[in-house]
Amino acid sequence: METHNNSFFFPPVMKLITLLLFYYCFLFEGTKANTQFHTLQISSLQPASLCTPSTASGSSKKQSTLEVIHKHGPCSILTQDKSSTTTTAAASPPLSEILTHDQSRVESIQSKLKPNSKKPNKLNEKKTNIPAQSGKSLGSGNYLIAIGLGTPKKTLNLIFDTGSDLMWTQCQPCARSCYTQKDPIFNPSLSGSYSNISCSSAQCSLLTSATGNNPGCTAASTCVYGIQYGDKSFSVGFFAKDTLTITPNDVFPNFLFGCGQNNQGLFGNTAGLLGLGRDSLSLVSQTSQKYGKYFSYCLPSTSSSTGHLTLGKNNGGAALTSSTVKFTPFATSQGSSFYFIDIVSISVGGAQLPIGQSVFKAAGAIIDSGTVISRLPPAAYSAMSSAFRQQMKQYTSAPAYSILDTCFDFGNLTSVSIPTISFVFSGNLRVDLHPSGILVAVSSTQACLAFAGNGDAGDVGIFGNTQQKTLEVVYDVAGGKLGFGSGGCN
Ligand SMILES: *[C@@H]1O[C@H](CO)[C@@H](O)[C@H](O)[C@H]1NC(C)=O
Ligand SMILES: *[C@@H]1O[C@H](CO)[C@@H](O)[C@H](O)[C@H]1NC(C)=O
Repeated sequence: METHNNSFFFPPVMKLITLLLFYYCFLFEGTKANTQFHTLQISSLQPASLCTPSTASGSSKKQSTLEVIHKHGPCSILTQDKSSTTTTAAASPPLSEILTHDQSRVESIQSKLKPNSKKPNKLNEKKTNIPAQSGKSLGSGNYLIAIGLGTPKKTLNLIFDTGSDLMWTQCQPCARSCYTQKDPIFNPSLSGSYSNISCSSAQCSLLTSATGNNPGCTAASTCVYGIQYGDKSFSVGFFAKDTLTITPNDVFPNFLFGCGQNNQGLFGNTAGLLGLGRDSLSLVSQTSQKYGKYFSYCLPSTSSSTGHLTLGKNNGGAALTSSTVKFTPFATSQGSSFYFIDIVSISVGGAQLPIGQSVFKAAGAIIDSGTVISRLPPAAYSAMSSAFRQQMKQYTSAPAYSILDTCFDFGNLTSVSIPTISFVFSGNLRVDLHPSGILVAVSSTQACLAFAGNGDAGDVGIFGNTQQKTLEVVYDVAGGKLGFGSGGCN
């Protein structure tokens, strides 16, 4: 209606061009309509109460492939109750809490990458004995894998995290404090292959880069690790080695890990954390002889399905051949253990957002398995939000929810049509997001765009785990590249 008035002033040539443009767009829309919108069943956004393991080929039982489960979903042993199979809701924290923790994690990533940031850092203010770079490790992620530790091996469900390095688990006798976990707490005195690392060993000094803190030392000369997280969660204990069993055929003696004696924080009922970062103490580095610093995973579209983590190139990853996975080179890691990538552009509904590449270049970006909601530079997020709103204008807007501010009320609709979102990474790699990576349900009738803007144009962008759902994400760390394939799991 607004254009009606304007057209009166248009010179005739402009009118003709406008008419042609309109005609072209009409044709374009007509032929591309199916690829620019997803039809989404609202019910698919709601958490399910029953576990339905993924049937995608990539998740079938293969050598060096572990099942990946959502920490709060019905497939998780952490939420299973012996008296019932449908007690998920009670065990899962509200979304608002998950998003608050997510923001803590993002702030700790940002401050780790910008040690001289003007922003106040609560951790540093309160713990002045910790050097500036330290301690700003990351809050817990959302996906779990089960590994075996010790001899005889004990099964432990750990959070897997590409944003950190050190593996740790709570250990008996829990000299100071252990939180409640679902698996029995690891008891080193019952493992024939366990031993402490001494303070004088070279391995002890590796903790400085892996945790951001210098190691401590007990009276008996046992090396002590300490790792703390942006949200005040922490684990402190003995640095140790024991046999790590990934699968019956993949057993790693003398695997270095933290045997936690004082553990507090947001780790749910998990037994601890497994780091997949670039540092020398990560699983990736400690198993590099066998797996060649190559791993891939797929995060399922819903918390009621399962995904997989595959270690090594010639193992389970064969489900997706190299022709279906396309790669982008890793960007420089800036001395950190994060996995940096270059975002070139983003399209909503097939239309590229009108933002210069410099917006992405200024901030840089990482891919992270533990951040839930992707973070974009403020200019990119606001362009995405307005393009998305524009293409969703047939639906009623809803108020912001926590960090999410592009929200809709779908009332009693059972299905909606949402614009596609695709990312282009350097090397001309286009990645189309699964619908489950575009909208997140905040109630039975309302859903929000599953992205948030950073506070500062210089804050690093983060390609988070909601946006990675169903994609086979391939980390060829030795080859310096990151791959994506569609349909890695469902
Ligand atoms: C490991 O070191 C701690 C602290 O020094 C000690 O209490 C524990 O007995 C040691 N464990 C083994 C198996 O040596
Ligand atoms: C949905 O709600 C509207 C009013 O809120 C009502 O008119 C319509 O009949 C409802 N549709 C269904 C399928 O329940």
